[in-house]
Amino acid sequence: MARFLNKKPIVQNGESQILSITGGNRLSGEVVISGSKNATLPIMAASLLAKGDFTLTNIPNLADVRVFKEVLKDLGCVTDFNTGRCYIDTNSLGNNVLNPDLIGRMRASVLVMGPLLARFNEVTVPLPGGCSLGPRPIDYHLFGFKLLGAEISDINGTISLYAPKGLRGTIIDLPFPSVGATENLMMAATLAKGMTVIENAAREPEIVDLAEFLNMMGAEINGAGTRSITIRGVNDLHSVNYSVIPDRIETASFLMAGLITGGDVTCVNASPWHLPVILEKLEEAGCELIIDTEKVGIKSPPRPKSVGAKTTPYPGFATDVQPMLMAAMTIADGENIFMDTIFENRFNQIKELIKMGADIEFNGRVALVRGIDNLTGCDVAAPDIRAAMALVIAGLKADGETRISNLEHLLRGYENPVEKLTALGADLKITEETLDTKTDTTQPDKTPVSDEATVSEHPQSDDDSPVVSTN
Ligand code: UD1
Repeated sequence: MARFLNKKPIVQNGESQILSITGGNRLSGEVVISGSKNATLPIMAASLLAKGDFTLTNIPNLADVRVFKEVLKDLGCVTDFNTGRCYIDTNSLGNNVLNPDLIGRMRASVLVMGPLLARFNEVTVPLPGGCSLGPRPIDYHLFGFKLLGAEISDINGTISLYAPKGLRGTIIDLPFPSVGATENLMMAATLAKGMTVIENAAREPEIVDLAEFLNMMGAEINGAGTRSITIRGVNDLHSVNYSVIPDRIETASFLMAGLITGGDVTCVNASPWHLPVILEKLEEAGCELIIDTEKVGIKSPPRPKSVGAKTTPYPGFATDVQPMLMAAMTIADGENIFMDTIFENRFNQIKELIKMGADIEFNGRVALVRGIDNLTGCDVAAPDIRAAMALVIAGLKADGETRISNLEHLLRGYENPVEKLTALGADLKITEETLDTKTDTTQPDKTPVSDEATVSEHPQSDDDSPVVSTN
């Protein structure tokens, strides 16, 4: 096949850059939603299951996607990426040992474990010391791989999976509907002998998208999007071209930006059907919804009514959207409760919002948000991807100037956020500066280890002790 052009993309990575926002502009207009980051990463991993050339379209140009491209390159693939297209040539895939530096940069790189185990019958994952996967374990992934027939050894943090006779279909009842574990096990089971059933599977739209991609490759998967996914193993898979779904989290983010500014924002190239509870919340907050094929918009009231949220696995309220809804609720009429049952430290935005004047009391996984008349712009530091967007949303409304540092977090999850918000009428720009934001040392660290937020322990795993622990 033709080798891909080795062009170096011009990339803003956000380090040492500041986003300055002058609040007060009402957002209005249409914004084009990018492809889903969380669908792209597992689909890129799934390409390892077959030899051939893949063309993936609607791929967002994000730091996380570029790191994942490096993961595939490190495994021997040839990859290229430009203008929303990602080309992957897996013909020379030859390595089944993951690079610890890349795992350290992005936890989602563990998604190549399932495909590599299925292809080579073995895979080695050297977990970088201490900080890496401890807080966000992969015990559910390992639990499933073991049931599929893999022997697992953990020597000083290097995990090796070995299935000398190949993987065998089985029933895997997940202790929790983990998105990553469901994806990894679904991919591994496509080439296993016989039938695999994943019970208590995650039901996120990204799982359905991955299953559709795998089925196009020749897999036989049924039930993706329900609690029970059945995978009939096949002998081999083939390469395909595929377009990923729109990013539902980015869509929700722009709708929240519209809400806080009392604006009218319409997201195009979007999928309203992936936002069931979020749209209900927007209606409760006083928005009029505009829903059409590949389009979702809101006409917001001048000041939102207060709504709260308890995050739960899909189709419940998404943990990734909670920080943005909370930001919008800081200026709502009334008070409300937020609860995150998925991640412990999904409240990273709160301390920064309080610096901007927000009235929020919080304790563990519960927060009480009392709406105030308006926030006040100041210097804040973005602690993770979604908290970064929450601070942007707060800054769009706040009096005066909000300056956000640690911008690399925002750019890991959002494609061209400044251009998109400017087109909607926001007043914001990226500058090269260093801020002394004096981030509270009790805040979770800012290392880009986790994909979205850091956690210390998943509560529902207490009764289901892992078969193999990464600790
Ligand atoms: C994915 C998303 C992330 C989203 C999350 C929940 C990607 C790249 N990231 O992350 O944006 O916030 O789903 O919707 O798609 N857990 C364990 N053991 C495991 C696996 C998970 O205890 O083996 C725990 C985690 O620590 C967490 C919870 O289960 O508390 C949910 O994690 P999971 O659904 O696996 O999230 P990710 O796939 O990492």
